Amino acid sequence: MKKDFLKLADLNRQEILDLLERTEILKKERLENIPHPVLQGKSLGMIFRKNSTRTRISFEVGMFELGGHALYLTDEQLQIKRGESIEDSARVLSRYLHGIMIRNNDFEEARLLAEHANIPIINGLTDKNHPVQVLCDLFTLKEKLGRTENFCLAYVGDGNNMTYSWMEAAELFDFQLNIATPPECATPGTEDFSHLSNVSFFSSAEEAVKGADVIYSDVWVSMGMEAEEEKKKKLLQPFQINQRLLDQANPGAIVMHCLPAHRGDEITGDVLDGPHSVVFDQAENRLHTQKALLEKLLS
Ligand code: CP
Ligand code: NVA
Repeated sequence: MKKDFLKLADLNRQEILDLLERTEILKKERLENIPHPVLQGKSLGMIFRKNSTRTRISFEVGMFELGGHALYLTDEQLQIKRGESIEDSARVLSRYLHGIMIRNNDFEEARLLAEHANIPIINGLTDKNHPVQVLCDLFTLKEKLGRTENFCLAYVGDGNNMTYSWMEAAELFDFQLNIATPPECATPGTEDFSHLSNVSFFSSAEEAVKGADVIYSDVWVSMGMEAEEEKKKKLLQPFQINQRLLDQANPGAIVMHCLPAHRGDEITGDVLDGPHSVVFDQAENRLHTQKALLEKLLS
């Protein structure tokens, strides 16, 4: 039975914890130049219908390091762009590949691909959620805080796919999630998590970061939302992560950002480059966690 990773909860809590343990081993082996060719002869198709730096490169390098092969496929190259259906594409690609990672707008389209493919489908970001990023973030928290539960994370900024995935994480792991967004920028789909008692909403960034061990940020204008740039930038000014805001969190709080960052908008350069920031270790961990995920789903 093939397994997809379209949302974080496609793995249960124990499977995620096991995967984070495996990530630790893969990271250490890479550092010690110990090869781990566990996906020899396997190919991953990577469909990108949006831009990417981290996701594209970490998946491609990850497959290479696991002894497999990755194909970078864009809209421009695929017949999908000229009207071939997702269902037929799923059936055909399943005959060649051992797995597909897809980055596109519509979550439903990724779900449809998974429904009609008989190989694992990995969500590499949709407008709805970004599960591979939050998986990596859980690993980074394990490294930096020593745990994936019993902490308070304040997400400050635009309510978007990252915010949704943090709620996916709060459903599986026992931590406090404080979400601060202007009401006009609330996260689409929040109602999916209305049953959670460990998620709180704030209209003030200062209130949300009180008692926080982690402050998390993402771009104010997500891919595809460019038409709303002016409006969002105005509304989100009070939600910038800067030294003054950081001073109100717990001493020693860490700062995370999924990147790409816009210094001077959602986060100031001094905080992003400062001693509390773990963002570049976080970015590196995309590679290690996704290798563990690929091994689990494709081998
Ligand atoms: N964080 C992230 O997914 O980065 P890319 O858009 O560069 O892939
Ligand atoms: N929310 C951002 C995440 C980028 C990794 C976007 O969708 O553009």
